Amino acid sequence: MSRSTRSDFPPVFRWGISTSALQIEGATAEDGRRPSIWDTFAAKPGHIRNGDTPAVACDHYHRWPEDLDLAKALGVGAYRFSVSWPRILPNGTGAVNEAGLAFYDRLVDGLMERGIEPWLTLFHWDLPQPLEDAGGWPRRDTALAFVDFADVVSRRLGDRVKHWITHNEPWCSTIKGYYEGEFAPGKRDLAAAMQATHHVLLSHGLALPVLRANVPDAQCGLALSLHPIHPASGSEADRLAAVRHDGLRNRWFLDPLHGRGYPEDVLAEIGAAAPKVVDGDLAAIAGRTDFLGINYYFREIVADDPAGAPMRSRVVEAETTDVTGFGWEVYPEGLTELLKRVTADYRPSPIVVTENGATYPDQIDADGEIRDEARAVYIHRHIDALRAAMEGGVDLGGYFVWSLLDNFEWAEGYSKRFGLVHVDFDTQARTMKHSGRWFADFLKG
Ligand code: FCB
Repeated sequence: MSRSTRSDFPPVFRWGISTSALQIEGATAEDGRRPSIWDTFAAKPGHIRNGDTPAVACDHYHRWPEDLDLAKALGVGAYRFSVSWPRILPNGTGAVNEAGLAFYDRLVDGLMERGIEPWLTLFHWDLPQPLEDAGGWPRRDTALAFVDFADVVSRRLGDRVKHWITHNEPWCSTIKGYYEGEFAPGKRDLAAAMQATHHVLLSHGLALPVLRANVPDAQCGLALSLHPIHPASGSEADRLAAVRHDGLRNRWFLDPLHGRGYPEDVLAEIGAAAPKVVDGDLAAIAGRTDFLGINYYFREIVADDPAGAPMRSRVVEAETTDVTGFGWEVYPEGLTELLKRVTADYRPSPIVVTENGATYPDQIDADGEIRDEARAVYIHRHIDALRAAMEGGVDLGGYFVWSLLDNFEWAEGYSKRFGLVHVDFDTQARTMKHSGRWFADFLKG
């Protein structure tokens, strides 16, 4: 297949770039913002590489006009960002912090002035600490608090923001946060994590009618991290392990969102850790959406492992040297496969790839250039994979590169750079990388 160009995609196709509040804003104690679980988690030694914290990050809170200029220079039509719950509702519920809302007001105006469409994510993992102290996502009230938060934000910004993503990657905010313990709040309790998945999904479903009431022409969805799951060998045991693993990784979220309830095979595996579901919850979760966001980074190759909790499975490394700086296999054909599979199994509303990108150990050359050809090739190969999926019948609405700027990469701190724009975290200088210029050229056609 020849390399794709922009003209291989319909004119209405959205080309965008993604960021999230905690990863870029900094100013974590300014203008009334209070701590999120990630501020608390990062403050404890041993959680984040090099003891990094999100306190300053890219200082986007102050430098946002320059950052939006960079997005404009890329030529993207859409910008996906998240709003910080603890900036807007510092206690999680109750009093609204006007200064916090005003920041996003300015940001949205800045996007409109530059002709860039805002795509707003409500929850990209930065739960207000007071809500965690009260029980966090395993507690049902957190779902209700999220709906109030969605109400506050959509009332204020809904006149200009038409694209609403309730949650980013529920798998990470729940399984990684409450079971694997690698992400905030750093708990290791399967039952709590499974209850958290249910409340995150429930909060999505309960927020939909509120968003639609406040923003009559809203386009609503959520963004899932999904992975093609391949068996490590041709053995029957590995094949079954891959099916089980897929159950928790993918179907646990896709099934209830598409009206099928939670998958029976996963419920059987997790036994007493199954979440409590109240009558009406599943109907709410299956509420109509306008698009399905998919974040794609890699496939998982899975072997049978009787000791591999919770799905009796183990992820094994791909036999390849084509990996990113995270060790993640570069596997663009997995994106085509995933998009076709989700289309065949669920017939979802149009799919938007809400994140895709790569970290590499970028170097600044003596002449100040960052020649990250590998990142440009990575993105181009994934755009080719999108085209193949569309040719295979997938209804695809857009593609967002992760990320505009190098930023605070969660447990990896500032050690993993994903930006099309380089950030010097000492001086806050921004430099367009080769990949950014490549993407801008691609978008020019
Ligand atoms: C995704 C997250 C995003 C970023 C990328 C690399 O899982 O949604 O915030 O960290 O990975």
